[in-house]
Amino acid sequence: MSERILVAVAWPYANGSLHLGQIAGAYLPADIFARYHRLRGNQVLMVSGSDQHGTPITVRAEQEGRPPKEVADHYHEEFLDSWQKFGITFDLFTTTDTPNHHKVAQDLFLTLKDKGYIYKDTMTLLYCPTCKRFLPDRYVEGTCPHCSFEGTRGDQCDNCGKPLNPVELIEPYCRICSSVPAVRESEHFFLRLSAFNDQLLKWVREQTHWRQNVLNFTISFLTEGLKDRAITRDIEWGIPVPLPGFDSKRLYVWFEAVIGYLSASKEWAERNGDEGRWIEFWQGDAKSYYFIGKDNIPFHTIIWPAMLMGYGGLNLPYDVPANEFLTLEGRQLSTSRNWAIWLPDYLERYDPDPLRFFLSISMPEGGDTDFSWREFVRRNNDELVATYGNLVHRVLTFTYRSFDGSVPQPGEFDGESKALLKKADDALNTVDSSLYECHFREAIRTAMTLAQEVNRYLDDKAPWKRIKENREDAATSLYVALSVISCLKTILYPFLPFSSEKLHRLLGFDGALQDSGWSITRLSPGQKLAPPEPLFAKLDDSVVAEETAKLESSRAG
Ligand code: MF3
Ligand code: ZN
Repeated sequence: MSERILVAVAWPYANGSLHLGQIAGAYLPADIFARYHRLRGNQVLMVSGSDQHGTPITVRAEQEGRPPKEVADHYHEEFLDSWQKFGITFDLFTTTDTPNHHKVAQDLFLTLKDKGYIYKDTMTLLYCPTCKRFLPDRYVEGTCPHCSFEGTRGDQCDNCGKPLNPVELIEPYCRICSSVPAVRESEHFFLRLSAFNDQLLKWVREQTHWRQNVLNFTISFLTEGLKDRAITRDIEWGIPVPLPGFDSKRLYVWFEAVIGYLSASKEWAERNGDEGRWIEFWQGDAKSYYFIGKDNIPFHTIIWPAMLMGYGGLNLPYDVPANEFLTLEGRQLSTSRNWAIWLPDYLERYDPDPLRFFLSISMPEGGDTDFSWREFVRRNNDELVATYGNLVHRVLTFTYRSFDGSVPQPGEFDGESKALLKKADDALNTVDSSLYECHFREAIRTAMTLAQEVNRYLDDKAPWKRIKENREDAATSLYVALSVISCLKTILYPFLPFSSEKLHRLLGFDGALQDSGWSITRLSPGQKLAPPEPLFAKLDDSVVAEETAKLESSRAG
């Protein structure tokens, strides 16, 4: 009964470090989901890669006076390092600049063109008379025609989320030299999105399991009516258009990047010596989940599905559990204003699990949520450490000391003990269905409530006192507490993989926790425990002042 799950995660532009907004929006939920399904015994393929093309990369490269490839490769290496340190377990994290991806993207282009879904047309574009070049996408800024937001980039409005064409901008200016651009004609290829409008609307309306925000956004977008979109650009950096006479143009970054999910699955299969294996994740009853931030919704619920419909034979997204935004100290995150916390910086100073904890328990699932250093320190100290870490440490040290470093032989379970063990079983099931449905916040909250229950149980049983009067009673309550802790280690594993693996070892198990399945790994009386070590550390309150000052001083603009 094992399922096949494709975990497709947004491809980050390789033009800067990863920040906490991206992590909370896409990478962490994707990893939680993948770890959960692997533990559940399902077949998971989790892929993504660096988005190496397009104007986000070239603008950065020009600003730094370096070749685009150098910029992209630099950040690609940094991403790989961050995934490893933060425990984001991709089966493959590749790039859009591999020969394989070029080939797959060009094949899709040609197939869609042969089928009549891509056609050539002249279009009006903005041209900078000073820079002497066309101004695609992020080379131009102006006011959004939909919501009047100022400083909107030519490809998409940050404020209302609508994709744009540069000519639609009100009062546009060149991002590089600020000149007022002229209007010029150029020949480009268009994706016939209008042909898919009805089919998409019908399909989307059937996706009743999608999150409300994703569904609403997509339906209203489709109801307004889709316009065909240009999928080539006058730019030198990117995937060549596989047709003669288009040497000075490239495929539009968004058109080819979404194809990355498919090309990466193929690359993964090839690397694993089973070239055709990607098909298992793209056809039949395999389910695909696309983890993205909310600014990427239309590309994953409309454009990519339209491309798949046109291409034929491959599964459409099963779910697109897009998150809302994470704000930082009450303000919108902004990479250009350097108002962000960069993952590599965080990882240099702190452990991965406390951040995974914070971002899980306040994940922006149903609305925006905020990260502040004060809340981070508070949640670490008062919840992660106080409710969970101290519980584990207290039980392990006392048991280790009093029962010769091993799991004690329990006596008969009383009503309270049975009730607690039942709560652990229930939590295992509840977290199971929450995670299955991508309700991450709910899942970790259920787990933390169980930890509170164990604390309450131990306060009541007080084995540290009881042991003086009745050793067997103390042994029983410690055994019960250890069993529930063993359950916590499993249900918290998708969220807190580093400490769960550690706890698995401390409880005296061999092998990796990730191989032990979605069940409460049973403790045998007499099982040797490892010498106890704390799972987490309290953070000093000074962290708050120190980090906020650092953040404020790096803020620009
Ligand atoms: N690079 C884009 C971003 O950071 C996301 C691309 S997702 C993909 O917003 F689907 F195109 F791969
Ligand atoms: Zn707008």
